[in-house]
Amino acid sequence: MTGSTASDRFTLTRRLPADHLADALRADVLKGLTGRPKTLPPKWFYDGRGSELFEEITRLPEYYPTRAEHEILQRRSGEIAAASGARTLAELGSGSSRKTRLLLDAFTALGTLTCYAPLDVSEDALAEAGRALTADYPGLTVTAAVTDYEVDLTLPGGAPRLVAFLGGTLGNLDAAGRRAFYAALRPQLRPGDALLLGVDLVKEPDVLVPAYDDARGVTAEFNKNVLRVLNRGLDARFDPDAFDHRALWNAAEERIEMRLRSRFAQTVPVSALDLTVEFERGEELRTEISVKFRREPLTAELAHGGFATRHWWTDEGGRFAVLMAEPAG
Ligand code: SAH
Ligand code: AVI
Repeated sequence: MTGSTASDRFTLTRRLPADHLADALRADVLKGLTGRPKTLPPKWFYDGRGSELFEEITRLPEYYPTRAEHEILQRRSGEIAAASGARTLAELGSGSSRKTRLLLDAFTALGTLTCYAPLDVSEDALAEAGRALTADYPGLTVTAAVTDYEVDLTLPGGAPRLVAFLGGTLGNLDAAGRRAFYAALRPQLRPGDALLLGVDLVKEPDVLVPAYDDARGVTAEFNKNVLRVLNRGLDARFDPDAFDHRALWNAAEERIEMRLRSRFAQTVPVSALDLTVEFERGEELRTEISVKFRREPLTAELAHGGFATRHWWTDEGGRFAVLMAEPAG
């Protein structure tokens, strides 16, 4: 199904079958809330409200990754555009596409780019970003697709392509998820294409933990928003106030884990699944992992997945990295 807006240069395609996301939510909740420990995949944070809360997180003093990546892109976008010479910039999990404007500005100056292809599960985020970008970049066609990049990674637009995956979102996948991601992406790329990856780096827990447990409680709201998504999508009866937000550093796995801890023993009906979920007092539901990376293991992992890292840039503080890799092997 394709819906054109007033602008001929903006298309938004719902690529997955109409009931795919509803079915996937049912399957994820059934598996994740009946297993032990209880878990949910982070993609369910991002309804309209969740996408807004994430944008608010990016402006928090404690949440450094967005500012650090912005600093890198501000300094390196010209170099990135020139090294890639892309006709198509595809972006996975593009959200508001705010930092992407730095790349689009550099590509506009270079004059090679004709198509920006953002892919995201959040239709609201794609629609808002797409309309603004077509207005602000008159030479650009914006081909947006509502899709799950873990299910369908088909890339639109002509070669050469630059595929951007920014914000540290790779870290929301575990090692097996990342391997599956590289295996799905690699066959899509041809010589001359490239991958631009933004990743958060391992650092002290006293910097990492507050970034996921801010003083104003915005991240807590973002975390609890997934319960509202379940209430609406599956006729569930979660009381967000019956759970506490938790962010902890798992040193062995080098990742932040966000969890929701049940404040007391409770039984939650999930009517659409004919399910009641029991929580013990203090029991935790893991809602997100956010893996932090080191250069050597990450470039080795990428090499194993068929990507040769050609550039590695960090911000002045060495908190975050943007790397550019080519298909290899
Ligand atoms: N890249 C932006 C947004 C990061 S937030 C930035 O750097 O600021 C993560 C984004 O990925 C959200 O917009 C969310 O909707 C999207 N997302 C999460 N899981 C996804 C999935 N499996 N498939 C497609 N998009 C996904
Ligand atoms: C989108 N992703 C990279 C964010 C992160 O930092 O893992 C999501 C987020 N979770 C809590 N705060 C931000």
